[in-house]
Amino acid sequence: MNTLNILGIAGSMRKDSNGTKILKIALDLASKYKAQTSLLELRKTNMPLYNPDLSIQSDIDMQKVTDQVNRADAFILVSPDYHGSMSGSMKNFLDYYWEEFAGKTFGYICTSHEKGLTVMDQMRTAVRQCYGWSLPYGISVNGSEDINEGQVINNLLNKRLKMLAHDLVAYSKLIREQFLQDLSSDLEDTFAARYR
Ligand SMILES: Cc1cc2nc3c(=O)[nH]c(=O)nc-3n(C[C@H](O)[C@H](O)[C@H](O)COP(=O)(O)O)c2cc1C
Repeated sequence: MNTLNILGIAGSMRKDSNGTKILKIALDLASKYKAQTSLLELRKTNMPLYNPDLSIQSDIDMQKVTDQVNRADAFILVSPDYHGSMSGSMKNFLDYYWEEFAGKTFGYICTSHEKGLTVMDQMRTAVRQCYGWSLPYGISVNGSEDINEGQVINNLLNKRLKMLAHDLVAYSKLIREQFLQDLSSDLEDTFAARYR
């Protein structure tokens, strides 16, 4: 693999979302490790409520999203804490995909007045169910305490964002390369064999 593609999913519908601001910073940090990054703001995406009975084949917006998801080797999922859960828009995004997440690595960020641990656990569970891999930690962001005018004002958060950027690039590369290698081999006893 020459370049690692990271897709950031911004799961807040709020125009002034702190999560989206942090995601842009995280993607920027990841690009310093030579990853190619792109951003999907669910707020700006015309994504219907997932309905298994409806096809998205003729939906141009959804085809663009699917192309982005297919191209990605790794993801950063960012959700606000809504009642201890991920946002409906994030869950709706996840509902659309399954095999597309297999063999890819995910990092998590939650904007919360608490720690957002249950939110990140839920995203991690959904990803695991789709055979995606997860970084073992997540990052929680507390809006006004951590961000001012689009800048991170909490040094510890800054450090953790740099750590996430480094780790996501490093571990995603290893996992993705192994997955692609196993996918193209004829070995049967591998995790990737079922995706041939
Ligand atoms: C419907 C709703 C439910 C919320 N539930 C919680 C909650 O359970 N715990 C919490 O800490 N914050 C909760 N919040 C606050 C948001 O998580 C918080 O404002 C977050 O920083 C927003 O992220 P954003 O700036 O990216 O939109 C809730 C907000 C809304 C609108």
